Amino acid sequence: MRVLVKGGTIVTAADTYVADVLVVDEKVQAIGQNLQAEAERVIDAKGKYVLPGAIDVHTHLDMPFGGTVSADDFLTGTRAAAMGGTTAVVDFAIQSKGKSLRDAFDTWQEKARGKACVDYGLHVAITDLPDPVLAEMPELVEAGVSSFKLFLAYKGSLMVDDATFFKALRKARESGALISFHGENGDVIDVLVKQMVAAGQVTPRYHALSRPPEAEAEATARAIALAEMAEAPIYVVHLSAALALDKVAAARDRGLPVYAETCPQYLLKSIEDYDEPEFGGAKYVCSPPLRDKANWPRLWSGLNTGHLQTVATDHCPFNFKGQKDMGRDNFAAIPNGVPGIETRLYLMYTAGVLGGKIGLNKMVDLIATTPAKLFGLYPDKGTVAVGADADLVVFDPAVEHTITASALHQNVDYTPYEGFKAKGAVAAVLSRGKVVAEGGKFVGQVGAGKYIVRKRFSA
Ligand code: URP
Ligand code: ZN
Ligand code: ZN
Repeated sequence: MRVLVKGGTIVTAADTYVADVLVVDEKVQAIGQNLQAEAERVIDAKGKYVLPGAIDVHTHLDMPFGGTVSADDFLTGTRAAAMGGTTAVVDFAIQSKGKSLRDAFDTWQEKARGKACVDYGLHVAITDLPDPVLAEMPELVEAGVSSFKLFLAYKGSLMVDDATFFKALRKARESGALISFHGENGDVIDVLVKQMVAAGQVTPRYHALSRPPEAEAEATARAIALAEMAEAPIYVVHLSAALALDKVAAARDRGLPVYAETCPQYLLKSIEDYDEPEFGGAKYVCSPPLRDKANWPRLWSGLNTGHLQTVATDHCPFNFKGQKDMGRDNFAAIPNGVPGIETRLYLMYTAGVLGGKIGLNKMVDLIATTPAKLFGLYPDKGTVAVGADADLVVFDPAVEHTITASALHQNVDYTPYEGFKAKGAVAAVLSRGKVVAEGGKFVGQVGAGKYIVRKRFSA
C-alpha cells in the first residue's frame, strides 16, 4: 500500500519544512518537494503539520492498583492514544511480589494480545529482587525490555529499599538497560498519611499535604546518589516539583547521566484542584501530587533548558464513579492516577507552543524524539525520516475544540482538562503506514499494534 501525504509542513525535533511524504507499506520511502509518485491514497496536508507519531513512555493499562484496576485496557487505551496522535506506548508490567520478572512480562503480553491498536513496548516494574530475579534482568533486556522501574514510594505494596534499588542499578548497567524510578520518600509519606487520617484530615487536599515536595526532592537526590555509586544512568519519571528538579539539574550540571520526565498534569493543574467541590478533588489524586502553581514556570523552564527531557502522561485512569469514590471518607483509599493518554498533544501544543512556553520543534522532541532515543525506539520511531516507520500525525492547527470527557475515547468518566480550549486537532494518524484515525474516528484495526523489541539503552 502506498500513501502520499502531500504538501504538509513537516516538523521534526530539528527542522520545519514543506514537503511530501511517500509511504510504502510500513515505512517512509521518500520525502521531497512535489513527489511524482503513484499512490492508492493521497492525504492533502496543505496548511497542516506532519509530525512524527507521539510516543508515550509512561502508561498504566489494565493495571491492578489501589484495590481496583485502571479503567483503560490495551484496546481502549491504545485506541485513545491513536486518536490523540500517539502511535507508540511503553506500558509498565508490574512484577507481583514472589514472582519472576518473566511472569510480569508474560502477564502484560497477555493483556495486550489481540488488543493493541498502536505499537507498544513494555518496561518491567521491579518490586522484589532476590538473586534469581536479579539474574533475570539481562534476559528481559534480550526480550526488548531495556528499562525497568522501581518505586521509592507506596510503602507496603510497590516500594523497594535502597539495597534493592542499588542492585538493580548495577545489573541494569551491565545489561544495557535504563533504571527509572518513582521518586518520593515512602516511609515519610506513610507516617504523614497515618497521622492525618488519625486526625480526621481525610479530604483529597490531604493527599497532597501528606506528600510534600521535600519528600520528592529527598528521594530524587537519593536515587541519583545511588545511581552515581552504581555508575549507572537513571531516569526520573513524573517529576512534579521544582525542588526535585533542582536535584536533577545539579546532577546534570556535574555531567551525570540523569534524565527526567514531567507530565501535563504537573504543568497545568495545581494543588488548588484538590478543593473542587463535591469530592471533585479526587479526580486529581495522583502521585506525586499536584503542586503549588509556583512550580509551573520552573518546570516549563526545565523543559526549555534541557534539564527535563520528556513529557509523558502517566496515564493511569480510574472512574470518578465507582473507583475514585472508594476514598470518599479517606483520601488514602482514593486510587492514585489521572487519565491523559489522548490529550497530551493538544495540551502541549496549545499551552506549550501557542502559550509561548516551548517551540514547535521542542514539543516534537519532548513527546516523540527524545523518548524514542532514551527508550530504544529511535530511529524507527520518533522522527519523520526516510527508512523510519510511517508513524505520522497530520495535525490541523486551524481547528479549535473544547476538551470534554464525552468526546474523548479514553474509557473513563472524566478528564482533568474538562473545558480546556484547545487549538489544533488531529486530522489523520498513520501507524506503520496504515491510517488508524481520521476525521475524529478510529479507522484502524484492533490488534494491529505490534510489540516492540526495544534496543538497549545507549547514552
Ligand atoms: O498516581 C500515579 N502516578 N499512579 C500511577 C502509578 C505511578 O506511580 O506511576
Ligand atoms: Zn510512579
Ligand atoms: Zn506511573
